[in-house]
Amino acid sequence: MESMIEFVHQRISQNQYSIGIDFTMGNGHDTLFLAKYCQTVHSFDIQEQALVSSRQLVKDQSHVFLHLDSHEHFLNYVDHFDVGIFNLGYLPQGDHHITTQSDVTLNTLRQALIALNPLGHIYLVVYIGHEEGLKESALIDAYVASLDHKLYNVALFKMMNKDHAPYVLDIEKRK
Ligand SMILES: C[S@@+](CC[C@H](N)C(=O)[O-])C[C@H]1O[C@@H](n2cnc3c(N)ncnc32)[C@H](O)[C@@H]1O
Repeated sequence: MESMIEFVHQRISQNQYSIGIDFTMGNGHDTLFLAKYCQTVHSFDIQEQALVSSRQLVKDQSHVFLHLDSHEHFLNYVDHFDVGIFNLGYLPQGDHHITTQSDVTLNTLRQALIALNPLGHIYLVVYIGHEEGLKESALIDAYVASLDHKLYNVALFKMMNKDHAPYVLDIEKRK
């Protein structure tokens, strides 16, 4: 079976999009992936190290814009989009203390759901194997479960037989 992020990529690869956002750039793998399916990609991280690695990966992609900025500020760069990925947590080979923060993630997600175009999707890969991740998971789950089903479809994909495994939330904005 594919990993959770491979599962997300598989779903995204079913379509082509105008604007994609990688809310958590990291080493740039998701950004490079989005570049194949989107006419324009914006990608955010708060770590210089993420930009250094990602710049190398996407150096030939003139439609990809890397921002050394928190995803909370994405509206300073783009006002609407069609597909977004939040691959939460920390860089596996980096400083594990620099991880996505539940309140920041939630605030960004709220704004992102407004900026998302109809029939667009936001995918979150949520990691619960660390303390901040658990907190983030509780907050995000409660929020997405409360979204009006007339406005958004929300689906959860998770392993049923593996404790603490990451899981995926797929939010579609309805027409
Ligand atoms: C699991 S990694 C992402 C992996 C990445 N998408 C890839 O393809 O390699 C999570 C990243 O989120 C970043 N991050 C944490 N807080 C952030 C924020 N407020 N805005 C943007 N990125 C943030 C971390 O610095 C880290 O690089």
